Amino acid sequence: MISEKQIDACLEALFARMEFPSVPENVYAPQRYMIAIGGKRIRPRLCLTAYAALGGETLGDEILAPAAGLELFHTFSLIHDDIMDNSPLRRGQETVWKKWGNDIALLSGDAMLIESYKYMLKAPEKVRSQVLQLFSENATKVCEGQQLDMDFERRTDVSMPEYEEMIGDKTAALLACSAGIGALVAGADEKVCEAFYGFGWNLGMAFQVADDYLDAYADQAVFGKPVGGDILNGKKSWLTVRALEKTGNRAGLLQLLSRPAVTDGEKSEKIAAVKAAYEHLAVPEEALETVARWHSSAMSNISGLNLGGVRMQLLDRFVHSLIGRVK
Ligand code: IPE
Ligand code: IPE
Ligand code: MG
Ligand code: MG
Ligand code: MG
Repeated sequence: MISEKQIDACLEALFARMEFPSVPENVYAPQRYMIAIGGKRIRPRLCLTAYAALGGETLGDEILAPAAGLELFHTFSLIHDDIMDNSPLRRGQETVWKKWGNDIALLSGDAMLIESYKYMLKAPEKVRSQVLQLFSENATKVCEGQQLDMDFERRTDVSMPEYEEMIGDKTAALLACSAGIGALVAGADEKVCEAFYGFGWNLGMAFQVADDYLDAYADQAVFGKPVGGDILNGKKSWLTVRALEKTGNRAGLLQLLSRPAVTDGEKSEKIAAVKAAYEHLAVPEEALETVARWHSSAMSNISGLNLGGVRMQLLDRFVHSLIGRVK
């Protein structure tokens, strides 16, 4: 059976060996930059882990190419997301739009999205159309979720179910699709593919709630993104939505959340004041409990499949590597 070590080594080689044309420089240099600075590569790892756990025997191009396609799609979404969120920092480095400007960031991102399809096309012929269908459906969801995320900035009445719909689309869909593609390429039947899709979905929900928590509470040097960014952008993060549900002084909290902050001093004061409000309402600890709940939902998606000890262990270790993440 494929081991975790083999998966690690394959992922390392896959992205280290990825080649980008040299011209036009402004299309490919940002792509090369984003792949070189890396990231956690959770989506391709999930895809390979699902494939291995379902009896995939060799880490050849038919699974490595779709796994790479997932990471390319994700990276494209980050390049555009950083423009939309006006974020200067990603993976501890300057964002593409900061370094090259919006025009170049948009187009090199677009080209990367197209590239992700070329990789998906390398899925084995037997499941190629299902892989492309699943990928396309979920890629659309990411765009829908991203728009909801932006629309919610201007709203003060976002409910928890609406928040969950938004993160389901912007984040969980791609993790679900990653697990689903791994299962499809491994040749799993429909019931198992669906279970793995659900597993990835619930992991994705946990992942985004953790991301929202870390956006306020991480160590920026480790997290690699600007801590407090969601607060300054007026994002309806899990923390904000829950705090607005719990507070006895909604008007006061809304006023604080919409307080303008222009100078660095005003920004750090606002971040500290909002975090104090969250803490007063015990929202951060609830966020972590929510992350744990989504993780156990993910495990229950696959616990009935009787995969056996070794295969479950591989999946379990993947899930554990996400629990308690600090970046
Ligand atoms: C960031 O994803 C976007 C979210 C869905 C929260 P990751 O946290 O997987 O980013 P990288 O790829 O490791 O940088
Ligand atoms: C982005 O969510 C999810 C994507 C589809 C890119 P965020 O805006 O929270 O991601 P980060 O925090 O910038 O990585
Ligand atoms: Mg965003
Ligand atoms: Mg963002
Ligand atoms: Mg975030």
